[in-house]
Amino acid sequence: MSRLDDLRRQAVELDTGDPLARWRDEFVIDDPDLAYLDGNSLGMTPRRTIHRIHEVMATEWAEGLISSWEHWLDLPLHVGDELAPIIGAGPGEVVVHDSTSVNLYQLVRAAVDLASDRHLIGVESGEFPSDRYIVEGVAEQTGRQVRHDLDDPDFPIGDCAVIVRSLVDYRTAEIADLAGFTARAKEHDTRVIWDLSHAVGVLDLNLPSAGVELAVGCTYKFLNGGPGAPAFSYVSRDLIDRIANPVRGWFAQADQFRMDADWLQRDGIGRLMIGTPSILALEAARCGIALTAEAGISSIEQKAQSLTAFALACVDAVGLTSPTPRDETRRGGHVAVQHPDARELNRRLANDHRVVCDYRDPDIIRIGCSPLTTRHTDVVRVFEALETLGALD
Ligand SMILES: Cc1ncc(COP(=O)(O)O)c(C=O)c1O
Repeated sequence: MSRLDDLRRQAVELDTGDPLARWRDEFVIDDPDLAYLDGNSLGMTPRRTIHRIHEVMATEWAEGLISSWEHWLDLPLHVGDELAPIIGAGPGEVVVHDSTSVNLYQLVRAAVDLASDRHLIGVESGEFPSDRYIVEGVAEQTGRQVRHDLDDPDFPIGDCAVIVRSLVDYRTAEIADLAGFTARAKEHDTRVIWDLSHAVGVLDLNLPSAGVELAVGCTYKFLNGGPGAPAFSYVSRDLIDRIANPVRGWFAQADQFRMDADWLQRDGIGRLMIGTPSILALEAARCGIALTAEAGISSIEQKAQSLTAFALACVDAVGLTSPTPRDETRRGGHVAVQHPDARELNRRLANDHRVVCDYRDPDIIRIGCSPLTTRHTDVVRVFEALETLGALD
């Protein structure tokens, strides 16, 4: 008898009682042998997205042609308003466009311009690479220095023009103290830009009540928006009209079609737009966002906690280690499992067992628990496969 037998039985029971189980049918999952645990990198394909993209192409593009731009022009704002409730934001506080990296650049640069007397920008050394690179780039371009020791009691928070921080750590899934850190920064009039990429669509967030003024995040992970789906920017209502877009495209121009006009930035969150939005990608993002909104972010968060707790129970049962917090309120929607052969094991899980997780340097297999598609029985498959691969003592 395997030490995982009990856990398999538990997994079956948990899946049977899962109130979100029916949402899996909304996705294209043709291979019964596939255990997909990488929805924290790329969410699965909603059936309605395929239908909607076909519909947009056949009617709005093929039939409507150029006239469809009448409603497409503001689609980034409409989709932003649809995403807003998922993060507790209101209408006019979110816009969906470009990539997380581009959006982060815009906000870092704009925040630095608002604090021109400050000589530092803060970002952790273990932060997601794109975020670090952007901070380092803006620091170089604007003559600032980068500081990494955000949690050091002596960190000179009051000298920072802005601090960039992920809410959920992309490796360990640890959740940072959103309200606490934002409040600490605010005491020094320092702005924080929160990267919600690994949090949105899996945590039940309320940015305004946490005092958050600025945030970015992607829609292709837990929001199931599709590969390269556009990202979002959130700016609190009070701040938006003080934000100067550092990338002056015509979509941020007050009167976009007055071609001879000098630059005059439009009002509202639309001032963060740059150029022509990718309509098909936006429509795909919109379908994923709608699924999350319909299923309910609070139920989604609860299921993520159940899946990750179960994954950690498996980790313990087989004697592996994990840096993911045990406190369910302090972890996001994935579980990091450490193993010295993690890279090779991750490859073999996918190739030999149809168990798709992902690998992060130096020794982490990430088990992504995407509540609309992941089952507890998918999670236990990771450990059963690791046992078969001889990876457990
Ligand atoms: C935490 C975090 N920030 C930023 C990015 C970069 O996103 P994009 O490729 O959309 O610019 C990612 C991508 O996975 C990410 O995980």
